[in-house]
Formats: sequence, structure tokens, C-alpha cells
Amino acid sequence: MDRNNREIKQKYLSEPDLSVTLKNVRLPNPVMTASGTSGYTFELRDLVQLDQLGGFITKSITLEPRKGNPPQRTFETPAGMLNSIGLANVGLEVFCEEKIPLLQRFSIPVFVNVAGKTIDEYVAVSQRLMSFSHISGLEINISCPNVKEGGITFGTDPKSVFDLVHAVRQSCPDILLIIKLTPNVTDITVTARAAIDAGADVLSMVNTFLGMAINIHTRKPVLGARTGGLSGPAIKPMALYLVSRVYQEVAREANIPIIGMGGISSAQDAIEFILAGATAVSVGTQVLIHPGCLTQIIQGIKNYLTEYKIPSIRDITGSLE
Ligand SMILES: Cc1cc2nc3c(=O)[nH]c(=O)nc-3n(C[C@H](O)[C@H](O)[C@H](O)COP(=O)(O)O)c2cc1C
Repeated sequence: MDRNNREIKQKYLSEPDLSVTLKNVRLPNPVMTASGTSGYTFELRDLVQLDQLGGFITKSITLEPRKGNPPQRTFETPAGMLNSIGLANVGLEVFCEEKIPLLQRFSIPVFVNVAGKTIDEYVAVSQRLMSFSHISGLEINISCPNVKEGGITFGTDPKSVFDLVHAVRQSCPDILLIIKLTPNVTDITVTARAAIDAGADVLSMVNTFLGMAINIHTRKPVLGARTGGLSGPAIKPMALYLVSRVYQEVAREANIPIIGMGGISSAQDAIEFILAGATAVSVGTQVLIHPGCLTQIIQGIKNYLTEYKIPSIRDITGSLE
């Protein structure tokens, strides 16, 4: 190999390609925010270089504004946290008027997370959002454990998953549809299959695991909503297992990318999800603790690929032996 070629090869190996695609949307790298942990737009801008991320996923948006659940809404647990926010958000109108113009300034792909109480609500919100060309896709949250109607009740029943995803797909034929699955089911491959059969382009998994904490002095649940969703490092082994299973049994064959999440705090965690079959990852709870972790994770993935002389992140997706 002559000197010129060697230099080109050296440069190539020292700068691995981190880009991935979710169907037709290209992410510059696989690391994104997780819904509900990084605001609607640029709230974290003083703490994270948002334009360095692979993509930005907003807080869940519903048709009407929601105040959310009564306090206390978060509680720290060993290696994790419980939250029962209850989809508190400004609602579709305010989101479209005040937040979407700001989202337009992102140089990275933006995905808006959608939630609702009824199928009609999901459809109405999705249809409206679809009209904004700088929104690269919708993440449909069928898995929120913290609301009485909608959310997880859709996500646990395969028929409801199918009906909901089908309705949104029919009304929004062209936009990238990411379906966010709940881990609170007996067999997640069944709901994953229902989502894919109904027209999901991408699966994101997982939302939080149902949990609770009790104040032994008052003998009452700590959270105002009694129960909440567990996230953070405590759930990582379970989330990783679910991603691996869905990849092996459903998504690989169907050629459906997975966005993996659940307790990712480091590049090591993110790489584990990618080896297990995730095309991209989202980071939630760790961003609340240390927002700068997002760019550290990206750098750590780059270092890993460089160390093992792997030219592209795509070479290791689902490569678990
Ligand atoms: C405080 C908090 C708020 C959340 N809000 C939402 C939300 O609005 N919509 C949603 O789909 N998921 C929401 N989630 C779930 C996260 O997006 C993610 O799926 C989950 O926390 C697992 O990832 P993590 O362990 O990295 O946090 C929320 C999680 C937390 C901790």
C-alpha cells in the first residue's frame, strides 16, 4: 500500500462512520434523547450541544393540555427512579404555535412523541403534526403507565395496538412512524408484531416498568398517583433482554429498526443495546442526572469503533453472537 493510500485508510479508521438510518431518515449518529426527559425544544441547550446528537425526541404531546398527576411525581430508587408525571404537557395548539417554530432551528432530525386517550385523539394529533415538514417522524407512545385512559391500555393489548397503529398509519401514510412499546406485558414479541403488521416503520423500546414505593410512616404510597414507571440503570438488563428478543424474533426478519432505551448511562450501555439489535438508542434518566452524558456516549461509541477498527456503527448492529 503506498503512503497516500495508507494515510487515507488511517483517516478512515480513525473517524468511524456513526450514521444510521431509520427507514428514510438519516441520523448523524445513533444517540438521541428519550421522550419526556429533555423538554420540547432547546431547554437543555446550555448543558448539551444538541446539534451533536443523532436526533431529538420531544416530550409527549396530547390533543388538549394536561396538568399531569398530583405530586409527588418522582422518587429516587436504588439505581433508578420512579415517575408518575402523567403526560403533563402544553397540548397540541400551544405546541404548534410556540414550540414547533423553535424545533425548526434544529439541524438534526426531530421526532415528536404523541400520546392520547382515544384512537381519534392519536389520529388528530398525528395528522396535524404531519403537516410540518421539518418533523422527521412521530413516536407514538402507546405505553405510558401513568395515565388512567389511553397510554399503556393500548400498548398491552395486541388488538388495540394493531387498531391504533393502523388508524394512525392510514391517516398519515408518509411520515415515519415509530411505535413505543411497553415492557409491562407477558410477551413483548406479540405487541411488537401487532405494531409491525399495522404499519410501524420503527419500534422504540422500552417505556418504563410499572412500580411503586411506600412511605412506611404514613403507610401511603410515595407517589401521588400511587404507582409510577421505573427507569434508569435498574431496568437496563431487562430492557436489553427485551430489545434482543424482539430483534431476534420479529424485527430482524421484518427489517424494522429498533430504537433501544432503558437505563442507558454510558457508551458501554449504548453499545450493548446496539449489539443486541438496536439501530439507535435513546437516553432518558441519565440526562436528568448529567445532560452532558449524551455527547460523552457518542464519543465513547466512536472510541470503541476506532479501538476495534470497525469502519461503521452499522457493522455491529445486531451482531451479538
Ligand atoms: C421523568 C420522565 C418522564 C417521561 N416522560 C415520557 C413521555 O412523556 N413520553 C414517553 O413516551 N416516555 C416518557 N418517559 C419514558 C422515557 O422516554 C424512557 O422510555 C424510559 O425512561 C426508559 O429510559 P431511561 O431508563 O433511559 O430513562 C419518561 C421518563 C421519565 C424518567
